Amino acid sequence: MMATTPPAIRIPQLEPFLGEEELAELADCIRTNWLTEGPKATEFVRLLRDYTGARHILLVPNGTLALYVALMVRGIGPGDEVIVPDFTFFASGSSVVLAGATPVFVDVDPGTLCIAPEEVERAITPRTRAIMPVHMYGQSADMDAVMRIAGDHGLFVIEDAAQGIGTRLRGRHVGTFGDLGCLSFFADKTLTTGEGGAIMTNDDRLADLTLYFKNQGRENRGSFIHPYMGYNFRLTDVQAAIGLAQMRKLDDLIARKQRAEAHYRARLAGVEQVRFLADVPGSTRVPFRIGILVPDAPALTEYLTQAGIGLRGFFYPLHRQPAFTPQNSRHLEGIRHSVYAYEHGICLPSSAGLQETQVDYVCDRIAEFFRR
Ligand SMILES: Cc1ncc(COP(=O)(O)O)c(C=O)c1O
Repeated sequence: MMATTPPAIRIPQLEPFLGEEELAELADCIRTNWLTEGPKATEFVRLLRDYTGARHILLVPNGTLALYVALMVRGIGPGDEVIVPDFTFFASGSSVVLAGATPVFVDVDPGTLCIAPEEVERAITPRTRAIMPVHMYGQSADMDAVMRIAGDHGLFVIEDAAQGIGTRLRGRHVGTFGDLGCLSFFADKTLTTGEGGAIMTNDDRLADLTLYFKNQGRENRGSFIHPYMGYNFRLTDVQAAIGLAQMRKLDDLIARKQRAEAHYRARLAGVEQVRFLADVPGSTRVPFRIGILVPDAPALTEYLTQAGIGLRGFFYPLHRQPAFTPQNSRHLEGIRHSVYAYEHGICLPSSAGLQETQVDYVCDRIAEFFRR
C-alpha cells in the first residue's frame, strides 16, 4: 500500500486569538520607547490580580521558571521530595530536579487526570516537603483534598496552574490555594504573551523573596546595591503589552472555548466510544485543550489527520521519560491511569477562534470513524 501524505491542516489544533488590540498595545511600546518590564507590566499585573484575587503577582519569562522560582523561594532543594502527578507536562517534574530536589511521581484520578489524593498520601515520606498539584487541561485539581493532606503533614503546596487561567473552584481561582501558584502564557495557552509566566502568592514574605530572586537580588532596577542573590527573570513590556490586550478580552476568550467544548460534548454524546474528562464538583473548567479518551487513539488520530484536522496527543507519563532516572526522581509502583491517558487521549481542535461549523465537521468525522 502506498503511504498517503496528510493534507495541509484545515483546522488547527490550537492557535492564539490575536487581533488589533494586541497590535495597538505593541505599537504603544514602540511609541513610548519602553521595552523592558515597566508600565505595561504594571498594568498587566494589576488586571491579573483583580482577575485572580491573588494578593501578589510576579511576572517571569515562562511557566517553567515560575515553577523553579516558586520551589527556590520556598527553600526546596537537595534532600527534599516533591510529590508531582505522573500525567503532566515535563516542566512540572524538571523544575523540581533543576531546583536540586527529587520529584516523586504518583498516579492521577482517572476522571479528571489531576493528581489522585490517595496516591499523594501513599507517597509521603519523612523527606517530603511539598505537593505540586497540576490543574490539567484547565480542570481544577481536588484542592480540598490536597490542602487537607498538606495541612495534616505540614507540607507546602506549589500549584502548577500553567494551564489554569480562569479555572475556579468554588469561585476561587486556581493557583491561590497553596503557598504559591504558577501560570504560563506560552503561545498555546488560553491567555498568551508568546512566552511568559507569573507567580501568584498571598504571602507577603514569599512575594518579597520572589521579587529579589527574579530581579538580581534587589527591589528596584535602578539600584546597584544587591542585598540578596538573584537572577534576571523579568518579562519584557513588549510581552506584557500583548498580555494586557489578552486580559481585556479574557472573558470572551474563555466563553468561546467553553462554548466549543459544550458543543463537542453535545454532538458526541451519542458516540459511546468517546469519553470526556470529568470535573471536580464545584469547579468551573476552562478547556485549555479539549481532550477525549477513545479505545483506539492512533487509528482515530490517523483518520482525523487525513481529514485535515489538527490534533495533539496526551502527555507522556513522567515516570517513563528518559530524562527522569532513578538517580534524580522516584515514582510509586502501579501507575496506570497516567499510562492509560497517554495511550488513549486525543486533544481536539480547541482554539478560541474555532467555529461551530468546524466543531460539527470534527464530530461528524469522529462519528463516521466509529460507524465504519
Ligand atoms: C502543566 C504545565 N506546567 C508547566 C508548563 C511550562 O510552561 P512554559 O512553557 O511557559 O515554560 C506547561 C507548559 O506547557 C504546562 O503545561
